[in-house]
Amino acid sequence: AKPYIYITRRLPEKVWKELKRDYEIGMWPSEEEPVDASTLKYEISRADALLTMLTDRIDADLLKNAENLQVIANLAVGYDNIDIEAAKAKGITVTNTPDVLTETTADLTFSLLMATARRIVEANQFIKQGGWKNWAPFLLAGSDVHHKTIGIVGMGRIGAAVARRAKGFSMDIVYHNRSRRMEVEKDLGARYLEFDELLKTADFVVCLAPLTTNTKYMFNKESFAQMKSTAIFINASRGKNVDENALFEALANEQIAAAGLDVFEIEPIDNNHPLLTLSQVTCLPHIGSATMETREQMIELCLENIKLVLNHRRPLTPVS
Ligand code: GLV
Ligand code: GLV
Repeated sequence: AKPYIYITRRLPEKVWKELKRDYEIGMWPSEEEPVDASTLKYEISRADALLTMLTDRIDADLLKNAENLQVIANLAVGYDNIDIEAAKAKGITVTNTPDVLTETTADLTFSLLMATARRIVEANQFIKQGGWKNWAPFLLAGSDVHHKTIGIVGMGRIGAAVARRAKGFSMDIVYHNRSRRMEVEKDLGARYLEFDELLKTADFVVCLAPLTTNTKYMFNKESFAQMKSTAIFINASRGKNVDENALFEALANEQIAAAGLDVFEIEPIDNNHPLLTLSQVTCLPHIGSATMETREQMIELCLENIKLVLNHRRPLTPVS
């Protein structure tokens, strides 16, 4: 029998059609809604390969059902939704999608920074709601971006790509990371700082760290208390790196000036979320890598990784 690949979300036929010659393909029929728990449990018990979304929690309990599974290809660079140790213990390879989304995600992160600083979304709402009656000297006045200090927490590929953009805006670049990144220091003049020092120094604090047990809630009451009152906080990594209640308090009490968020502690959020009541918060629905070009490349990379593993070859982008 042909090896069986299960895809947990409906993807356009053109990207998987040619695989049908050599593989059996199963797919969750909805593009918008995630696969339900019982379907996932059943499919994991029979699939040789899974193509998963960041919305699918693949934990040890679920992996117990895997009989034939050789590879899980996650359609994201982050893989905190997958229990990597449990997969490894079962000999299952896990892959992610680094590199192909780096520049796209950096574009979004920098757009969010600029949109938050210059109040772009608020200004758009203001005019569409008929608020523009007069020009005024401080109407929708925001913060400068150029020549300010950006503090990048998590200097991976995306962090470095954001730093390159910041350099183009004549920003001073400081960063914090598990290890020093000599090439960004040398090429962009980025300075390494301890986390607490970065919080005190940066005008823009940008979180691009992956979610791990070490980074969970690294932005909390104490962190926000150390930031400048004019600081703008940007998160484009994972919502659980941030204690959202603490962020809300810091913004509401004007301990920090504004926030731009592409990710949330529990996604999706609905329109009753407290952060949405604050005009100084710009929110996006986790669209960091969402361009047509990049999403297609991410899907292709997942499928390539699956084919390689099923053919007993090394995948292009294993997670470890
Ligand atoms: C998106 O959040 C990703 O990890 O690729
Ligand atoms: C992801 O690609 C990262 O290393 O930031």
